[in-house]
Amino acid sequence: MARDSEDHSASTEEIKASLREKVLKRRDAMPPETQNTFSRAILRDIIGLEPYKNSGVVLAYAGFGSELRTDEFLHRTLDLGKRLLLPRVNRETKSLDLYEVKDLARDLKAGTWGISEPDPGRCDPADIQTVDFVLVPGVAFDSRCGRLGYGAGFYDGLLANRRVSQTWLVAGAFEVQVVESVPMRKHDVPVDLVMTQERHYPS
Ligand SMILES: Nc1ncnc2c1ncn2[C@@H]1O[C@H](COP(=O)(O)OP(=O)(O)O)[C@@H](O)[C@H]1O
Ligand SMILES: [Mg+2]
Repeated sequence: MARDSEDHSASTEEIKASLREKVLKRRDAMPPETQNTFSRAILRDIIGLEPYKNSGVVLAYAGFGSELRTDEFLHRTLDLGKRLLLPRVNRETKSLDLYEVKDLARDLKAGTWGISEPDPGRCDPADIQTVDFVLVPGVAFDSRCGRLGYGAGFYDGLLANRRVSQTWLVAGAFEVQVVESVPMRKHDVPVDLVMTQERHYPS
């Protein structure tokens, strides 16, 4: 099947669902110390990238569960004088709203699914159109930078509105999250670069 062909067959969704299950199981099985060590290495590499260095506005996320630990990256971004945006799930619109976070100790609170989210009472709303660099979360990636999310399509919806040629999309992931092929439909937004603890894609 061609990468960009529109396919509404159940099989694409079934493949995505079984990939999510398989990869999340592998990621959940990693010892926490390994997740910490790898997260630190991956995020230091990302901080060293030219597009990150050149960025003024960074959209990132607060990792949860067995996801990459991003705390250090969030602090570093603020320390470097960049503007930091974090997403918040809007249950009514079933989409992500962005807010600018200035004080990580005070501006976040547990939101949907217990994930740390910006407190709208303390943070100003922000626009995806202002973002230079996105640290993109995801469940699985492939070597062509195809991305599989958690199944709500939140990032596909959000990133569809970015300034396409001016916004860098970089995913940090553990090598166990890289699979042979992620089925990509028209609405699926690939990333520009996937960085793991071992290598980066495309190489
Ligand atoms: N931008 C979009 N336009 C239309 N439908 C979308 C969009 N983003 C997501 N969807 C729908 O949301 C659902 C989940 O999308 P999917 O890409 O499978 O999730 P994820 O990217 O989180 O892995 C699918 O049914 C998909 O058709
Ligand atoms: Mg998708």
